[in-house]
Amino acid sequence: MRLLVLVLLLLSACTPALPIVTDSDRVWARQSFPETQDDLDESRTLYARKCGACHRVVLPANVPQTEWPHVVDKMAQRARLQDVDRARILRYVLTASRPGQPVVP
Ligand code: HEC
Repeated sequence: MRLLVLVLLLLSACTPALPIVTDSDRVWARQSFPETQDDLDESRTLYARKCGACHRVVLPANVPQTEWPHVVDKMAQRARLQDVDRARILRYVLTASRPGQPVVP
């Protein structure tokens, strides 16, 4: 039991906290992707689930915004994502990695 608690503590210490979606994120995303009505919260959950399976989920701000489309294209094949999910994940990471967002070490 004590071991289980220790393992859980270590695991939670290693998992970076994905930035939650703020109101300014929603405004930015609405302006940047006017053709979609995505729920960014759902995209964030999708990102955590699909992109944290093989490695720890990468904080959006730790990849330059301009690199994300390429990274998501490459990783979407590995994660066997459908196009619609790939697009939703890309919109979340682009929103959360836009300039002005804090970079977490
Ligand atoms: C099937 C396993 C797997 C899944 C699922 C996966 N990745 Fe990866 N990822 C890897 C491996 C392996 C690497 C190591 C670098 C490489 O081989 O390209 C990596 C590396 C990365 C990197 C480091 C930069 C780079 O391009 O090498 C980022 C960022 C990344 N993944 C993001 C994602 C995102 C976003 C998703 C969800 C769409 C995702 N990963 C899903 C296996 C996976």
